Amino acid sequence: MTLVETIDLEKGYRVGDMVVPVLKGIDLCIEEGEFVALMGPSGCGKSSLMNILGCLDRPTGGSVILKGENLCTLSDGELARIRRDQIGFIFQSFNLIGRMSNLRNVELPMILQERPPNARRIRARELLEAVGLGHRLEYSPVNLSGGERQRVAIARALANDPMIILADEPTGNLDEKSTCEIMDIMKKLNDDGRTILMVTHDLEMTRYCSRMIQMRDGRVVQEGI
Ligand SMILES: Nc1ncnc2c1ncn2[C@@H]1O[C@H](COP(=O)(O)OP(=O)(O)OP(=O)(O)O)[C@@H](O)[C@H]1O
Ligand SMILES: [Mg+2]
Repeated sequence: MTLVETIDLEKGYRVGDMVVPVLKGIDLCIEEGEFVALMGPSGCGKSSLMNILGCLDRPTGGSVILKGENLCTLSDGELARIRRDQIGFIFQSFNLIGRMSNLRNVELPMILQERPPNARRIRARELLEAVGLGHRLEYSPVNLSGGERQRVAIARALANDPMIILADEPTGNLDEKSTCEIMDIMKKLNDDGRTILMVTHDLEMTRYCSRMIQMRDGRVVQEGI
């Protein structure tokens, strides 16, 4: 089943009174269960594309279809609901909240979903245990290593049981050992059936993936293994 499809997707950013085109007609299709690496030079539009697929931004042309639903026809509220319920985002800079415990960070998406406190606490604990942080539940992310922080972020991304994980350079700030740990977790998630789209600059990472999409200057220039 196709989870994500873009048709002639365009994005231009308004800068002063000019619109600078950044995505210039992207057609791509991601099937359920794939682990896709998205590569390309800095500035070619990878994060812009991820933000649109993750309902954090809107395109200026073309369409995005998530599980058969055309995002361009949805209101801001409906987009926010899809983001809350269906998307798991992992960022290079973790984006955790330092003054909250790890447990609370992972609970956050479920608080937005208004899940009962007990249920969300149990699930957050299970997710943190699954990424090997069962002994750090009450720590704050501030007191963790980079690799550990990214593991909290992965647990948080899984909290809403998303249909797709969008990871924008998840290992970009990590050393080699933490990178391997994070990639092993991502691989396991995919083996368990989770669909993942991951931006990376590191060709080495593509060995974990089932397919690679190469972008250049706002276009897809190559697809393959
Ligand atoms: N909000 C914005 N307003 C104006 N221009 C933007 C905005 N966001 C991104 N851009 C521009 O769009 C282009 C693509 O940016 P984007 O962040 O998508 O690239 P990227 O492929 O993710 O690069 P990197 O590998 O460095 O993260 C860049 O030239 C950038 O300056
Ligand atoms: Mg980027």
